[in-house]
Amino acid sequence: MEEYRDILNELCRESKTWLITGCACFIGSNLLKVLLKCNQYVVGLDNFSTGSPKNIDDVKNLVNEQQWERFNFINGDIRNACDCDNALMWSANRPVEYVLHQAALGSVPRSIDDPTETNGVNITGFLNVLMALKKSKVKRLVYAASSSTYGDIQDVPKVEHSIGSPMSPYAVTKYANELYANVFHKVYGLNSIGLRYFNVFGPRQNVNGAYAAVIPKWISQVITGQGIIINGDGSTSRDFCYIDNVVQANLRAALIQSETAINHIYNIANGESTSLNALLKFIIAEISTTLKTVSPEIDMQDFRLGDALHSLADIRKAQNFLGYKPQYKVFDGLTKTISWYVNQYK
Ligand SMILES: NC(=O)c1ccc[n+]([C@@H]2O[C@H](COP(=O)([O-])OP(=O)(O)OC[C@H]3O[C@@H](n4cnc5c(N)ncnc54)[C@H](O)[C@@H]3O)[C@@H](O)[C@H]2O)c1
Repeated sequence: MEEYRDILNELCRESKTWLITGCACFIGSNLLKVLLKCNQYVVGLDNFSTGSPKNIDDVKNLVNEQQWERFNFINGDIRNACDCDNALMWSANRPVEYVLHQAALGSVPRSIDDPTETNGVNITGFLNVLMALKKSKVKRLVYAASSSTYGDIQDVPKVEHSIGSPMSPYAVTKYANELYANVFHKVYGLNSIGLRYFNVFGPRQNVNGAYAAVIPKWISQVITGQGIIINGDGSTSRDFCYIDNVVQANLRAALIQSETAINHIYNIANGESTSLNALLKFIIAEISTTLKTVSPEIDMQDFRLGDALHSLADIRKAQNFLGYKPQYKVFDGLTKTISWYVNQYK
């Protein structure tokens, strides 16, 4: 399998054309940064419902002028079929070749509060993307699936072929994506790869609001001296995965040549288990050494509805078929992430 740096070098030598749906989000903007830095042509589609123009501005500041000129942004909605069709051309003679589909309404609690809205974006929107691709010459779709698809299965670690029953409307939508992608391959020959992300974290993740993920929320609360709420007793564990590993997985999934690797689902994680207690301890220690000594008030509350107690991935399938090799362990990624957030608050 190719080394990741060789894949990046190869990309830099030959410009391809990409669509990133949800390009104003945390994961989408990090994909955008790496693709533009590799001199790729990129169309970005987002309706800014949870993503932010600031994420795109940040990327603009990280690339050079020529690289930035290779980016076309469409302010559009995947629930609108025309927006999906329009996003598949960078220009009249430059059709999109690879699609990295990130657009969705994330968050288990959001989907419990409003299942209809989540269903509309995550299922109808996804179907619109597939319908647009069916008519196009796109070589491959790589889409954001989710570890929530494991539902109530107790197996640890989670292996791709063995899933339980969904525990939230969000999980239903992400599983429906996998089913639709599979059917579009069988019926229409559309090639895709689904990446079941496990708790991704890193720079540009949203810290605000009721639906913020635990890592950016806690980092921001510790930096700003707020109290911390732990849902449960802190023994809940997750396979937290640093964003650069996820970017690597997307590029490998888009570019892998082997036929046996295509039209499969892969766990994308670190393969490491970290409890919420260990996570919080590390965040507090790291911020205390880099910024100021902190000792936030900690309030233990009930476990959250729809949340699995433990989530750990078996990543051997991605390693064997895609050549995926996580470059960052959890605490290495956390150190980089905390440093990024600390700079934001200076
Ligand atoms: N962050 C994680 O840990 C994680 C874990 C599993 C799966 N995922 C999936 O990864 C993807 C990216 O997630 P994220 O964490 O970067 O943040 P996110 O979920 O906020 O990103 C979604 C992006 O899609 C955009 N969007 C939402 N509805 C849209 C619509 N109707 N039309 C166009 N754009 C729309 C939002 O504005 C946002 O920029 C999502 O599909 C999410 O479900 C994320």
